[in-house]
Amino acid sequence: PQAGLLAAFESALAEDSRIEPRDWMPDAYRATLIRQMAQHAHSEIIGMQPEANWISRAPSLRRKAILMAKVQDEAGHGLYLYSAAETLGVGRDELLDKLHAGRQRYSSIFNYPTLTWADVGAVGWLVDGAAITNQVPLCRCSYGPYARAMVRICKEESFHQRQGYELLLALSRGTEAQHAMAQDAVDRWWWPSLMMFGPPDTESGHSEQSMAWKIKRHSNDELRQRFVDICVPQAEVLGLTLPDPALRWNEERGAHDFGDIDWTEFHEVLRGNGPCNEQRITQRRTAHEQGAWVREAATAYAAKQGTEHGE
Ligand code: 3HC
Repeated sequence: PQAGLLAAFESALAEDSRIEPRDWMPDAYRATLIRQMAQHAHSEIIGMQPEANWISRAPSLRRKAILMAKVQDEAGHGLYLYSAAETLGVGRDELLDKLHAGRQRYSSIFNYPTLTWADVGAVGWLVDGAAITNQVPLCRCSYGPYARAMVRICKEESFHQRQGYELLLALSRGTEAQHAMAQDAVDRWWWPSLMMFGPPDTESGHSEQSMAWKIKRHSNDELRQRFVDICVPQAEVLGLTLPDPALRWNEERGAHDFGDIDWTEFHEVLRGNGPCNEQRITQRRTAHEQGAWVREAATAYAAKQGTEHGE
């Protein structure tokens, strides 16, 4: 029966139809989806920290309201993705335990500090911009629940990217000090944003299989290139420069050439030696511990509901 099931799985992939939770799937397909979806969900939750840092310091009520909405959205994205991962038979508590124990990853980008208000703009424009470039193809991922979660997330992500861009535009066109603050933030966030797309294709251990299973629809380098080509004209409109002297349009490639990424930095951050790794995971564990009473209350309430309705 295994051969028949595998043939059915492979023909579903071949005709670009979706694999759904009740369909048979290879254990390795399930495992790589759990790995990626958990990492994605953890990234959303940890990603709330750098920005939340500025909610109480926003320069106006309008900016505060926008930033609060964005951080709330990120929490919601985490919940969609944990729920989508649960359809693969793994509970949110198990995934969070692995995150807290350092056995599952979250995106490298959130291990960098948000030092000034302009960082909120740079994170919106660059980090959410990179996330969109990476997530739009995931709307066509072969696993149904993941692809459908992406459709909703991408809609909200484009608001995140636009508000960041508009924030930077306001600063860039403001006083000289504001312009300098915006440029400093772009200088610090540009290269780590390019690292979000993962290692070069030549070092990407999962890409080949992930693309064969139509989870990853474009390679790391392809999406990174797409992101660079999107950002160059946007930076021009912003009146800000991207911190890469090698960046230039290449006519025959029809794309921008750009400088070398510091992969040592990338691997150091993945090893836990980034600027904020310790702070992020400590804050995450503390939030989880301090939130235990909410989970206990919800569980007690659910049990009470169950008994009252004689279930
Ligand atoms: N940060 C941390 N780890 C990373 C990474 C990154 N930026 N890029 C790659 N890695 C890890 C991989 O997990 C893998 O390690 P592992 O085998 O120990 O898990 C290793 O580096 C090799 O990378 P691969 O290219 O082989 O791995 P993938 O095929 O998984 O590709 C990926 C990496 C492109 C990030 C892919 O996992 C992916 O598309 N993930 C879903 C999208 C995602 O997580 N986006 C970043 C979240 S930011 C966000 O959404 C918040 C937004 O609201 C701002």
